[in-house]
Amino acid sequence: MISKAKGFNYVKAHVIWIQRWKNGAWEEGHLDSNDQFTISGLSTSLHYGQEAFEGLKAYRRKDGRINLFRVQDNARRFQTSCEYMMMPTIPVEDFIAAVKKTVIANQDFVPPYGNKESLYIRPFMIGVGDNLGLRPAPEFIFSIIVSSVGSYFNGDVKPVDMSVSDYDRAAPHGTGHVKVGGNYAASLKAQVKARREGYADCIFLDPTTHTKIEEAGAANFFGITKNHQYITPKSPSILNSITNRSLKYLAKNFLNIEVIEGEIYIDKLDDLIEAGACGTAATITPIGSITYQNKKHIFPASEEMGHYTKKLNELLTGIQYGDLKDPDGWITTL
Ligand code: PLP
Ligand code: COI
Repeated sequence: MISKAKGFNYVKAHVIWIQRWKNGAWEEGHLDSNDQFTISGLSTSLHYGQEAFEGLKAYRRKDGRINLFRVQDNARRFQTSCEYMMMPTIPVEDFIAAVKKTVIANQDFVPPYGNKESLYIRPFMIGVGDNLGLRPAPEFIFSIIVSSVGSYFNGDVKPVDMSVSDYDRAAPHGTGHVKVGGNYAASLKAQVKARREGYADCIFLDPTTHTKIEEAGAANFFGITKNHQYITPKSPSILNSITNRSLKYLAKNFLNIEVIEGEIYIDKLDDLIEAGACGTAATITPIGSITYQNKKHIFPASEEMGHYTKKLNELLTGIQYGDLKDPDGWITTL
């Protein structure tokens, strides 16, 4: 077994998945050891951002086998993103089959059990082919690239500091709910500014009123209220995080606490006893403080992961690595 995770940085594995859409249909996909692309310099993905992507992980179990986490949900969300971007979709079963083939061919790169590492799986689709005017591409490529990864934020379970951005990542009725490159390009300026100022990442407010927390950089935001409820923002311009969906389920069914999808006002952070960011790459990252307009709000759980966040983290990772029973058809064991 090869374990070479270097934080959240690309480690080339054996092969990638490549599948082309030409003349209105998908060709057979294949595995290829070349992870470099030769595409038209006039590809719509390069000029007009016609692309969509996904992110999921494969986890090494104690018995050596490999678990995929909620791959069906990534397949469905990918269809939504591709449709929005006027790209062809991949049938759910074909997406899952391609992910399985790619992971199995790269199984040496799934890090060993017990060190919180995993294999990050990045399916994506790009518009390619010669094209000049603004219109959907004549051809597309669906690909899957994998990499061994460790933690996304530098720390481990220690709460991170975040700051609120003045910029928006997505418009009120725009692309915020789909996983497309443009949202991430639009968030880079805010992210780099936050990192330069010493924060782990930035938090975006809702683009309409700039009064409510919307997303935490490349992850969803959640909090635990003083009344011991799990709260997470409800907004049409945030990504419907599969990790957050899982935490809502675990909070309700395992911790027996109320789950609220609602408003988290940036000037009412006192209502929260714990805060965190959640996502495939970010896993569950506790947030110790949020700086907004030069004022630093420190949460009670700022030195170490709070009680509920810790419990949710244990449940989620226990399920992902196969130590706890799969509660709802989330796990595909290879
Ligand atoms: N929000 C954004 C902007 C993201 O990039 C991600 C990462 O995928 C998430 C939320 C979390 O989504 P998921 O839990 O499905 O990975
Ligand atoms: C993920 O968590 O899968 C993401 O896509 C976040 C990414 C920006 C690293």
